[in-house]
Amino acid sequence: MIYGVFSDVHANHEALKAVLAFFYKNKVERFICCGDLVGYGPQPSECVREIMKLPHVSIVLGNHDAALTGKMEMRWFNSNASAAIEFARKRLSGAELAYLAALPEMVKTEDFSLVHGSPRKPLTEYLLSGAQFSENLEHWAASPCFIGHSHMPVYFRQSSGVPPETDFLLPMAKVLMSGVRYMINPGSVGQPRDGNPRAACGLFDQEKNTFEIFRVDYDVARVQELMKTNGLPQMLMERLAFGL
Ligand SMILES: [Fe+2]
Repeated sequence: MIYGVFSDVHANHEALKAVLAFFYKNKVERFICCGDLVGYGPQPSECVREIMKLPHVSIVLGNHDAALTGKMEMRWFNSNASAAIEFARKRLSGAELAYLAALPEMVKTEDFSLVHGSPRKPLTEYLLSGAQFSENLEHWAASPCFIGHSHMPVYFRQSSGVPPETDFLLPMAKVLMSGVRYMINPGSVGQPRDGNPRAACGLFDQEKNTFEIFRVDYDVARVQELMKTNGLPQMLMERLAFGL
């Protein structure tokens, strides 16, 4: 079974379509989404609708999804992020809002765990250090644990008797996951922040127990044009071209 793993779509439908096309080309049968379907981008309704249609999707609530559905206070967000959440709230249908509102904060299966921020603080913690990874170990069971939120493709590994290891996942980098616990962030589909503007996503091969990261081209200029047309903040528009 091959899973397509993706996160932080952030209402970027052009990037989402490119990533889903890549998944289907690579024989993905199931999907894992680490949250933040909306916020920042110009097409929140299109993205939620696209993800609602996916067969066999495991998915969790992100902090932007939580704010949009009234589950998180807006004081957590800066003015640009707040403006994009307000924009999205006006565009989602009742069914799309209900879908977001019903998403769980954490998913636990026999084969993997799934959360947006971290297992101990699903909506707020940016998990970026080995120390944070160690502190979270008691809060989840099945490995790998997929996370999002930081928009950085990165992994953490715990082998017995040695300090936790962490590294960034470069394009096409593959990790083998035998006998140790892994936490993996597939990066962001719709707003990468690692200096690479291409959409990030990953393939989790359950039989081979491997995870591989990929970057996919999409039409950044079209998304920027849509953001401009809809009056979204200039800074959110500009950062897409740099992946920052
Ligand atoms: Fe995000």
